Amino acid sequence: MAKDMYQKRAERKDKKLDEKDKSLPSTNINWYPGHMLKTKRQIIEDLKLIDIVIEILDARIPISSRNPDMKQIIQNKKTIIILNKSDLAVESETKKWIEYYKQKGMITLVVDANLGKGIKELLKQIEEVMLQDMKKAAEKGRIRKNIRVMILGIPNVGKSSLINRLCNKKSTIVGNRPGVTKQKQWVRIANNIELLDTPGVLWPKFQDENVALNLSYTGSIKDEILDITEVAFKLLKYLYKNYQISLINRYNFTQEEIQSLATQYEDDEIYNLMKLIGKKRGAVVTGGEIDEEKTANIILSDFRSGKLGRITLERVR
Ligand code: G4P
Repeated sequence: MAKDMYQKRAERKDKKLDEKDKSLPSTNINWYPGHMLKTKRQIIEDLKLIDIVIEILDARIPISSRNPDMKQIIQNKKTIIILNKSDLAVESETKKWIEYYKQKGMITLVVDANLGKGIKELLKQIEEVMLQDMKKAAEKGRIRKNIRVMILGIPNVGKSSLINRLCNKKSTIVGNRPGVTKQKQWVRIANNIELLDTPGVLWPKFQDENVALNLSYTGSIKDEILDITEVAFKLLKYLYKNYQISLINRYNFTQEEIQSLATQYEDDEIYNLMKLIGKKRGAVVTGGEIDEEKTANIILSDFRSGKLGRITLERVR
């Protein structure tokens, strides 16, 4: 019963909190803001040397994967928005997002950093964005040789993957620029484009439960932070409502099985669904009960790897 699960979950949470209390005393609360501040300062410092910011978002959650202070951090820098992991999002929804940003006057591109799709278009856009500035500089007799770019984004959106894609074998490392930490390097990714090889890691929003869940589903918040069973349960609830066919296809549900899930309470129905998935995938413990954590991992991993098909969690309203 779902009631059992909630009870078990509450017990597990209490245990986790007890463990946290012992291992992480009060410093736990103070650590994150300090870290954020340091990162922010470094990014602001790096931005002084940058012409164009490439802001990378997750195409499945374009709103949740945006850093809340982005505007304030980048000020009026030229920006190109990348909707990455486009292979995992519903194409028609991604198109709507592109239109949405276009309406707001923002340059937005669709990328699959794993396969390198959209990279050529990105390089072209970088040049186009700078064309006016280059022309103006030329009119004044100044020659601007290099366009300098850096990548910003929250954890796990694909910053490193994009950097790897941009820095192909032909890329050359260029000298350090003053003002940038020594370990950082500039890589020439095209004739006149230089990329800062270390991305700016931004923190995500934590303003509401939905955002936190979206970030958790997609792996931008570490699994240890939230209760993984609860996260998978909520994802399942969303998918059952919005992507039922994807679940049916992935787990080979029969019509009878789907019908057998029905109960008076929605949460019980979802828990029945979770049990069915656990059983079908052999995530059972002695006595025939499902191993909730294992089942949760299966669901999340199927979603994250795209085995459930293309899924967009945030739609343009
Ligand atoms: P980050 O630097 O922003 O933290 O992200 P990173 O590039 O490390 O990418 C995080 C995960 O997302 C990696 O998977 C990476 O392969 C995957 N990824 C990045 N871009 C894309 C994309 O366009 N499509 C898809 N489907 N996946 C993408 P991982 O499982 O954490 O590691 P790995 O073992 O796959 O490398």
